[in-house]
Amino acid sequence: MNTADNPQNSPAGEMPHGRPLQTDFNAEFGNDLDYPRLGNVTFRRGTLTDNQNALFEEHWPRLGKMLADERIDLDEWFGRSGAKTIVEIGSGTGTSTAAMAPKEQDTNIIAVELYKPGLAKLLGSVVRNDIDNIRMIRGDGIEVMVRMFAPESLDGIRVFFPDPWPKARHHKRRIIQSGTLNLFASRLKKGGVLHVATDHAGYAEWITELVDVEPSLEFKGWPWPECPQLTDRQLITKFEGKGLEKDHVITEYLWEKK
Ligand SMILES: C[S@@+](CC[C@H](N)C(=O)[O-])C[C@H]1O[C@@H](n2cnc3c(N)ncnc32)[C@H](O)[C@@H]1O
Repeated sequence: MNTADNPQNSPAGEMPHGRPLQTDFNAEFGNDLDYPRLGNVTFRRGTLTDNQNALFEEHWPRLGKMLADERIDLDEWFGRSGAKTIVEIGSGTGTSTAAMAPKEQDTNIIAVELYKPGLAKLLGSVVRNDIDNIRMIRGDGIEVMVRMFAPESLDGIRVFFPDPWPKARHHKRRIIQSGTLNLFASRLKKGGVLHVATDHAGYAEWITELVDVEPSLEFKGWPWPECPQLTDRQLITKFEGKGLEKDHVITEYLWEKK
């Protein structure tokens, strides 16, 4: 595994300069599965308002971390022991994260996102609404999974509306790949749940082809009424509001770790 500079020394929520080091996953895990290639999304810096900067300075040290070679002590970070933990990758502005978390207060929720203004929005709702079961990590969700979470340590992983990368030459950037499913499975405890949703028909076809590719994940389809965790995002998105027009169908996927 590559050793990144210690980003904990950067100003609150700032990426260290330059291209982030990337793990060679095939070498690391000794397999020939597919892993997403990061597009230029990695380098999006984003500007914050003065208020958001002040919010970051004050609250990020307690509620946020940068990608680092550091296995997170979940009990210490959340200040309680034995709670379930769900990681959401690509939380965007965190609207569904902040809407779901109060309905699952017994669960630690960790939102992973590259885009700082998105994290700033979520940080704002967490602070304003006194939500105490959300923490945030800034960095590539795949590297975060590998470096910061131990095998079989998570109860759930969520990926809601990942970037669809519609052009064929960009499909290799899609986050859902055979290697990602293998990695997610390795981080889930037995009985843990992977939940993916997309509103993009082409991405739905792509994921549908991969549902059975990882032997340690049992595909449960949708809906799965006995699912042991919250699956309702609590929000009517602009897509859902439009009903079931062809281009606005939301496809959901649930798997259980065997
Ligand atoms: C289309 S948005 C969806 C955001 C949110 N989940 C929602 O439903 O509104 C996809 C998000 O994933 C983030 N993202 C893309 N690749 C990522 C990666 N490798 N690690 C973490 N976040 C990523 C992007 O920055 C973007 O905010």
